Amino acid sequence: MITVSENNIFALTNSYFSYVFRVSPEGILEHLHYGGSLRDPLKVATHHLRTQREVATNFQGGPYFSLSDTPQEYPSFGTSDFRFPALHGRNSDGNTVFSLHYKKHKIVTDKPRLKKLPSARGGDSETLIVTLEDVLHKLEVELHYTIYQDYGVLVRSTKLKNKGDKEIQLQHAFSSALDLPPQDYEILHLHGTWSREFNEERIDVPKGRFVVDSARGTSSAAHNPFIAIVQKGATEEHGRVHATTLMYSGNFALSVEKGEFEDVRLLAGINPYNFHWRLKPGKKFCTPEALHVYADKGLRSMSHIWHEFVRDKVSPERFRHKPRPTYLNTWEAAYFDVDETKVLHLADKAKDIGVDMLVLDDGWFEGRRDDTSSLGDWTADKKRFPSGIPALAAKVKAKGLKFGIWFEPEMVNPKSQLFKNHPDWILHVPGRKPSLGRNQLTLDLSRPEVIDYLYGQIDNILSCGDIDYVKWDMNRNMTEVGSAGLPKNRQREVSHRYMIGLYDLLKRLTKKYPDILFENCASGGNRFDLGMLSFMAQNWTSDMCDPIGRLEIINGCSYLFPLDVTAAYIGPSPNHQNGRKSSIDTRFNAGAFCAARGISLNETDIEENKDQLQNLMQFAKNSAEDMVGGRFDRLIKTDTEVCWQYTTRDETKVYLAYFHILAAPNLPFRRARMVGLNPNADYTLVEDGVRYAGDALMQSGMPLPYVATGQVNENVRYMAKGDFSSYLFVFEKVAQ
Ligand code: DGJ
Repeated sequence: MITVSENNIFALTNSYFSYVFRVSPEGILEHLHYGGSLRDPLKVATHHLRTQREVATNFQGGPYFSLSDTPQEYPSFGTSDFRFPALHGRNSDGNTVFSLHYKKHKIVTDKPRLKKLPSARGGDSETLIVTLEDVLHKLEVELHYTIYQDYGVLVRSTKLKNKGDKEIQLQHAFSSALDLPPQDYEILHLHGTWSREFNEERIDVPKGRFVVDSARGTSSAAHNPFIAIVQKGATEEHGRVHATTLMYSGNFALSVEKGEFEDVRLLAGINPYNFHWRLKPGKKFCTPEALHVYADKGLRSMSHIWHEFVRDKVSPERFRHKPRPTYLNTWEAAYFDVDETKVLHLADKAKDIGVDMLVLDDGWFEGRRDDTSSLGDWTADKKRFPSGIPALAAKVKAKGLKFGIWFEPEMVNPKSQLFKNHPDWILHVPGRKPSLGRNQLTLDLSRPEVIDYLYGQIDNILSCGDIDYVKWDMNRNMTEVGSAGLPKNRQREVSHRYMIGLYDLLKRLTKKYPDILFENCASGGNRFDLGMLSFMAQNWTSDMCDPIGRLEIINGCSYLFPLDVTAAYIGPSPNHQNGRKSSIDTRFNAGAFCAARGISLNETDIEENKDQLQNLMQFAKNSAEDMVGGRFDRLIKTDTEVCWQYTTRDETKVYLAYFHILAAPNLPFRRARMVGLNPNADYTLVEDGVRYAGDALMQSGMPLPYVATGQVNENVRYMAKGDFSSYLFVFEKVAQ
């Protein structure tokens, strides 16, 4: 997988891609190729033509060599490259000029894990570690590249070591830099806000710099830490794609810069804005991992690579391919109005309709009657839950259900015992009143004593042994980010130290309770990233449970994430977020391919729709095994239609979900050209036993149901009349 020539050309190659760079005659790491797999990668041509350009500034006096048009592996500022650098810092002379030259390299089998940050698992992999050095200021920079035998993902990270005897201050320390050659590229990225996460935007790569980032403390719904630089016009099926994400849940930046010579630089890592790190002599700083994918058959092939990798190498191994329980969540059923009697009553309802698990959401702890108080005090409310959570959990379990519970550990309300006892445990800066978000403040997770307190509180509840699932929520962005636990000159380290603290807490809890299914949530998708997913097998994608609102969200989310890590429930209609009325079927179908499916409905709604809910939950239960480890494909996405295909891991079943948004008369008859089937096999449509040939389903397509508007005709398969209708097909492959 990794080869190195005598003159230091480095090539990482597997069947998905080749990644090649070399030590230039000047000692700089010059990037040569990141694209399709090459037969002989060491023979790839150098990009740099070493020709005098009129404007070029020659690097350190050498002829015909300027860094401003040299593709590099880890560019720094101040020595003839004027683009945004991967490294920017202040050295002991007070200036910001660093010059990194090759020092040494080594190859290690497998993949070293990062100590304090989450990292992708290794296995059948090799890691190349190249050390660069700024000789003047004794800064060593280790570039780590891991390539896997069987995955199309390249994992990069960077370690900076101060080998000198004076402090170095880091202002940027990106995880990776990727300089792509001039071409017509577009950017695909995912933006949004609360209840509108994962909206897709496609734009031409502009001249100048385009950045998606977060300065909110979490990776955020405003910009998911994902970017794809695609060949102009690339579709689901065609075109080259370079896509990147980060194994990080805090302030990040993905920066794309088109330089004066039309080359495109992608930088991925911690957001340099408001970041600063004092690197004392002898100390190291380790960046989060940046993950890169190259795919040459369009966005679909990119997603397949991400999905397999996230499932196999990121998300907790114990839950890999493990069917998820169906569930009833109390949130939209009762909001804060929960007590033991009501929860047990809902548990009976859940049992009646065949659901596997009861989840007690927000509202169960001391004094929590609305969102103005009590976060931080993680003991059950004595009046409403007199026998406590362990006893409640045992009662729910005695009914034959699993039991799950909600926490929002990182937060505290000013109205709480915790805040009274420890007012300095919040993120704050001297002399300023902290801003409130949802009436709450953020705890200072950069402080070890806060981590220990939270561990104790959560452990106290989980140790009863009857908790099967935890929903870990986080409902505000961070402001006044400062810590009473750190000196003045380290205040800009707080955001990153917060993440290190959070990861430590998650590591301790998930290690002690490996069988509890943790679901990550931050008002829905405000912190949906690989960092959190490495501890928690599931993510609550959005509070938008209206199916039409949810379609866009799932579609966008699926570019990067396999739906194995997502959950969806049937919520109330009219929807509480956007007021839209929709059928129970469409509400279920929108989340049909998410691994965890459930409901969040009150008793009246459950009673009124009991038969239908029973059928749907039975369907969810029967297909739970199918919805993990399979292949998800986006087939159609227009303003009026969405069609997705899901093929099970053993390829014996294929599901097709079709959504028609606004009804209209005399619509065209549409088909979905299915993908990835066996052309030589037949597939039986379960609902009527009709057999279809695999090649025909792919080449000619499956006729899609027609939205009934007038008189119905028995030759046509109809969907419900009106807006927001949907249809779910199930095919079984005929054994050959
Ligand atoms: C935000 C989450 O996204 C919801 O599902 C719910 O758990 C509420 N918080 C509870 O406060």
